Amino acid sequence: MSEQQYILAIDEGTTSARAIVFDHSGHVVAIGQQEFEQILPRAGWVEHNPVEIITAVNEVVGQALVKAGINRHQLAAVGVTNQRETTVVWDKNTGEPVYNAIVWQDGRTGAIVDEIAGGDPLGTERYRQITGENISNYPSAPKVKWILDNVDGARERAEAGDLLFGTADTWVVWNLTGGVNGGVHVTDVTNASRTLLMDVRTLEWREDICKDFGIPMSMLPEIKSSSEIYGYGAKNSLLIDTPIAGILGDQQAATFGQACFEPGNVKNTYGTGCFVLMNTGEEPVFSKNGLLTTVCYKLGDQKTVYALEGSVAVAGSLVQWLRDNLRMIDSAPEIEELANTVEDNGGAYIVPAFSGLFAPYWRNEARGALVGLTRYVNRGHLARAVIEATAFQTRDVVGAMNADSGVPITELKVDGGMTANNTLMQFQADQVGVPVIRPVVAETTALGAAYAAGIAVGFWAGEQDVIDNWAEDKRWEPKGDREENDRLYRNWEKAVTKTFDWVD
Ligand code: G3P
Repeated sequence: MSEQQYILAIDEGTTSARAIVFDHSGHVVAIGQQEFEQILPRAGWVEHNPVEIITAVNEVVGQALVKAGINRHQLAAVGVTNQRETTVVWDKNTGEPVYNAIVWQDGRTGAIVDEIAGGDPLGTERYRQITGENISNYPSAPKVKWILDNVDGARERAEAGDLLFGTADTWVVWNLTGGVNGGVHVTDVTNASRTLLMDVRTLEWREDICKDFGIPMSMLPEIKSSSEIYGYGAKNSLLIDTPIAGILGDQQAATFGQACFEPGNVKNTYGTGCFVLMNTGEEPVFSKNGLLTTVCYKLGDQKTVYALEGSVAVAGSLVQWLRDNLRMIDSAPEIEELANTVEDNGGAYIVPAFSGLFAPYWRNEARGALVGLTRYVNRGHLARAVIEATAFQTRDVVGAMNADSGVPITELKVDGGMTANNTLMQFQADQVGVPVIRPVVAETTALGAAYAAGIAVGFWAGEQDVIDNWAEDKRWEPKGDREENDRLYRNWEKAVTKTFDWVD
């Protein structure tokens, strides 16, 4: 083998940047990780400092290479994966962002969404049929419009061609490849499919939708496949001359890393939120049950593969909320211990509609609810309700997927931090009624991006290598009384309705 024995994946996530070195068997060699600040200027607003993101990315790349004891000459390529939808607008001449990144969870664009959807006779349906996405707070387009409308002089500068837009992948790759000194302004089809600006069939930006949102097309990055050489690491950087060769939105990356290559294959990633994606093959399938149609991946000039997606905004972040805002636990893993001090939820349900509710409800105005309280309920019950909320939300979207596809799923592949929580995983299996399966390499998001990059440069041959490297670690079979599990779920569905129409 050549001296280039490794691939580096950069995962610019919602709460931290990570860099992971993988070897040819898809195993983790070293990880660098750094959290960055969650800026919460007002209720419902979530921002990141884009400069801090780049500093963190550079830092973790250094950490990972040092820990692995390698340098860039031993890297065959770099793949990038990222929190999706999160929006950065910057000046192409100075490289300076004009505003903080507006994060995917941010709820400030309700009025923009209402105005644009309300002014269109087909309302939300028109956007969904073209882009696969619902017009809501979630995608990038309303966030870009908010920045252009609210930052002094931004619209004029954008119209003069001085400002660039990017999701987090675009911002990271532009900086990695040199920034103002020749950085490439690109995104991949999976990230572009989260902006509400791309036609999900043609994979091109839609001029009419850009017009609806008042977004000059000169701001938009070039849409590329998920696996090709976009550019090379900048001079004077740790990755100098190293090919940047893979980009996948984090959920699509996890789907790829989980080897979900057959139509009907499903994965769920438990991160800040949790996101269930089902591979639907080479044609986009449009949901009748509140799911999004998204690009799953496209390798170079091969066919586009699509997915149905059930996006749940709050999963791990509910545990963090219990830790940071309520201080009921000191560290996230303690949630399981606390939940196991009781037998059940004691009748309590928490619906974490912190950013409204995403799939399958799509209620921008929803706000969280804690229902079923009696004097009997204690900390353990609340911890249990927190864990159960993630499993119930997953059941919501799996139910929608089953209804859309007409063929019930037979297993759920899982990954992400919360899969270490045995209580959650067992309850998840009980709720969805199929085996829940975790792979040996649980870092599937970074791994997926590594595969996309490695395939582009011939380090791996293609999907078969991914399949060969995938191995099962643990499986949870559904247990318990089906009737009782269904009764709990019916209560959950009732609890969800309590979050609607909550604020004026
Ligand atoms: O669409 C948002 C998603 O990409 C964020 O993922 O890992 O932060 O839950 P995560």
